[in-house]
Amino acid sequence: MKNIAVFGAGYVGLTSAVIFANSGYNVTLIEISPSRLKKLEDGKSFFYESGVNELLAQALSAKNLSVTNNSEQALKNAEVVFSCVGTPDNPDGSSNLQYVFDVAESVIKQTQDNVIFVQKSTVPVGTGQKIEALFKKHSRKISYASNPEFLREGTAVQDSLWFDRVVVGSNNTTAANLVLDIYRNVEKNKLKLAKLAGVKPKRNTPSLYVKTSRNSAELTKVTANAFLALKISFANSIAKLADAAGADVVEVMDAVGSDRRIGRAFLNAGRGYGGGCFPKDVSGLISSAEDYGVDLPIMTATTDVNESMPGYIANKANNSLGELKDKRVAVLGLAFKAGTSDARKSPGVKLANILDKSGALVKAYDPHASQEAKQDLRSNIIISDSIQDAVKGADAVFVTVDWPEFKTLDFSWLKSKMKGNIFIDAVNAFEADELKSCGIEYIGVGRS
Ligand code: UDX
Repeated sequence: MKNIAVFGAGYVGLTSAVIFANSGYNVTLIEISPSRLKKLEDGKSFFYESGVNELLAQALSAKNLSVTNNSEQALKNAEVVFSCVGTPDNPDGSSNLQYVFDVAESVIKQTQDNVIFVQKSTVPVGTGQKIEALFKKHSRKISYASNPEFLREGTAVQDSLWFDRVVVGSNNTTAANLVLDIYRNVEKNKLKLAKLAGVKPKRNTPSLYVKTSRNSAELTKVTANAFLALKISFANSIAKLADAAGADVVEVMDAVGSDRRIGRAFLNAGRGYGGGCFPKDVSGLISSAEDYGVDLPIMTATTDVNESMPGYIANKANNSLGELKDKRVAVLGLAFKAGTSDARKSPGVKLANILDKSGALVKAYDPHASQEAKQDLRSNIIISDSIQDAVKGADAVFVTVDWPEFKTLDFSWLKSKMKGNIFIDAVNAFEADELKSCGIEYIGVGRS
């Protein structure tokens, strides 16, 4: 089995395609956006992700990868088709499955018999059943496998090579085994691929290969993301209590997280979660549960807490700064987290907009995400092209992403550039004492 087609050159599709191609498969990547396609043909990804451009260049020059917008040509010889297209949220929070069904239609019309259709797009539980019914209706012999993706932006290549588990759910065992074999092959090649990509190998931990039913695999993906989002909102709820009671949420979570039953990961309080996954996966889970007549108040609360955080942080600043109107503030960080240019549902953008709405004069800076954030920022907000420009004359500085260039800031230098002395650490990544020793007042989240 050699020929793979991948639909969608987003974070998941492009990363998967370049990894499969450099593991010895012939991969055709189908992308319908002309601007993204043009960039790919020039050997460049449309997003910033460590190692992806290197793997792309290598796969294109070795001719293991081709990119096209012509699905008919791409599907002609495909033996396995990965669907990695977007499932954005509808205004009511449900998942928009238009692209997923478009791919299914192309597969029905354009593939050979016995092809395996692998669903990597995040879909509500029950979607695979509907697609299998479509295959049957058109009398097509196509096997369906759900293969949810767990890679994180910023560490996508490493996560794909050193994975905790690969989950494949299918009612066809042969198809499930063939899909798992692709990942076994990737795992065999991981050191070579890491070298090509220029990413650091991760600590070797056992990689699990998990076979489940189709529906269980679909539900696994959204459940994993929803649980991580729940952990973050739980930490943020405790942060508010820590602020009120005079405790430090970082100390609390360090101690609580050292219990191996709980774990320390995803208990970092701050401005809340954003990005292309958690917000839409939580709302998609709530909405799909409703379709099955199941209420998930725990997830509604997760969303509510998350949405409250940027406003909560702006309020904390207000307590120290007084009226925000006409205050000069710098927001450092527009990406939804460090390591990516992705600014979708970015908490830093939300915070900048809240500050602007309160009448503050906002300058924002991000080393990689300014362009992507621009469309979501209110028109008064000035995007700076350097930290220095953003913080010059500021009454307060908000850090909303723990980019390395922010974490290594020289605080004496910072103080000399600012007019005021308020530093709001919306990611709890700094030490209050270090800032205080430079004459800066530190405000964290849950660190009173
Ligand atoms: C997530 C999942 O981790 C990944 O497995 C899935 O495939 C896609 O969704 P991603 O969205 O890339 O990945 O980012 P992640 O690192 O999980 O962070 C999500 C958001 O939560 C970010 O805004 C991050 O800053 C925030 N976060 C994370 C916190 O606020 N606190 C934490 O403790 C951890």
